[in-house]
Amino acid sequence: MSVAEAHDTAARLTPEALAALQALLGERVTTSLGIRRQHADTGLTYHPVCPPEAVAFAQSTGEVAEIVKICARHGLPIVPFGTGTSLEGHIQAVEGGLTVDLSQMNEVVRVSPEDLDCTVQAGVTRKQLNEYLRDTGLFFPIDPGADASIGGMASTRASGTNAVRYGTMRENVLALTVVLADGRIIKTARRARKSSAGYDLTRLFVGAEGTLGIVTEVTLRLYGIPEAVSAAVCPFATLKGAVDTVIETIQMGIPVARMELLDDVTMRCVIEWSKLEGYEAVNTLFFEFHGTPEGVEEQAKLVGEIAAANGGSDFQWTANAEARNKLWQARHDVTWANSLLKETPEESVLATDVCVPISRLADCIIESKRDLDESGIRSGIVGHVGDGNFHMGLVTDFRDPAKKAAAVAYSDRLTHRALAMGGTCTGEHGVGTGKMEFLQAEHGEALSVMRTLKQALDPQNIMNPGKLVRV
Ligand code: LAC
Ligand code: ZN
Repeated sequence: MSVAEAHDTAARLTPEALAALQALLGERVTTSLGIRRQHADTGLTYHPVCPPEAVAFAQSTGEVAEIVKICARHGLPIVPFGTGTSLEGHIQAVEGGLTVDLSQMNEVVRVSPEDLDCTVQAGVTRKQLNEYLRDTGLFFPIDPGADASIGGMASTRASGTNAVRYGTMRENVLALTVVLADGRIIKTARRARKSSAGYDLTRLFVGAEGTLGIVTEVTLRLYGIPEAVSAAVCPFATLKGAVDTVIETIQMGIPVARMELLDDVTMRCVIEWSKLEGYEAVNTLFFEFHGTPEGVEEQAKLVGEIAAANGGSDFQWTANAEARNKLWQARHDVTWANSLLKETPEESVLATDVCVPISRLADCIIESKRDLDESGIRSGIVGHVGDGNFHMGLVTDFRDPAKKAAAVAYSDRLTHRALAMGGTCTGEHGVGTGKMEFLQAEHGEALSVMRTLKQALDPQNIMNPGKLVRV
């Protein structure tokens, strides 16, 4: 359950606008309270639940364009929705309006194995795509914890455990189809792997969180499934030893595919939640190596030596693909496992994420841990540490103003610590409503350029208003 009760959002949906949407969509637009709530209360964030006034289920890019034109004509805010698994309030209808649910746009449009790319509709999820690709020998590596939609992942510039080797959505989106705030449909790029032809609109819309337009189709890079894959778990005597292992591995340029830190608190939750056997609740790194059998062996040997020098035990290898999948699913379920830190059902989790240059990672994590111990807040530390990115999930009763203030103050200190180290207020969860207040400190004058872009592309401020930039 989310912490805040649903509160009434601004009434922006006029009977005329609703009638126009109904004429276009029939029963695929609804004002049912249950469905509106489902599109805001996902149980994943502590942000206040703000259901939209209506939900539209779109089935094509053309239809999205018609919906947007109706909304533009009636000044109705639009919140794009994929699977609702974002964490920073992106899907909350904070200014009322219409949620456009893209989950029925779930077709893989095209796969070109010879070009290692594909185009999917925005509602295709990452697991659905990989299932579809299974017989091609290709895969799509970007894996946020949830089985998110590709459109949502593009919109939040998502990453996950494979990003240290394969990059984030920034590196892996080749082109987008976007419906703009006035209903125009654009394609941001062709399928060529590189281009010097003009502004990079693809990168502009990746991470725009639906504030500049609605992503309806995504062209993605794909990769050959590696010949050899092996995963290992390594427990450490100290948190610092684990983090230093990560830093040295990155600095040596060892191309690990995955390198995840789970601190002792997180390990305790994960072992219980996912019923992992044979592991201890101590600071731990999860690794995965991809390549040829010889390459994988060499990488593992080098990382094993670094780990040993930093107080790591021997690698515990996962025996087979099934055990490996169980291990990574357990890692992906950390958000849920974290709920074991709740002492009462009323408590909820403030999930946050920061990212720093790798050379500052140990400082940032160790200081954050000390701050945690001093402030008596319950949280694990978990993250894609090969990227300098880690998460915390602060557990408290957010209905109690003093407890909420303490958790939010901790989270603010964490963010400012990361910024002071040359880092960012969010490595992958995005801005939404949750990180808006930090953008001035992070971007300075560049934030005013973002505002200029927003005003140029969405002069009526109907595209996911109240998120990312304040206008
Ligand atoms: C994860 C998500 C929460 O890393 O970002 O599990
Ligand atoms: Zn993450």
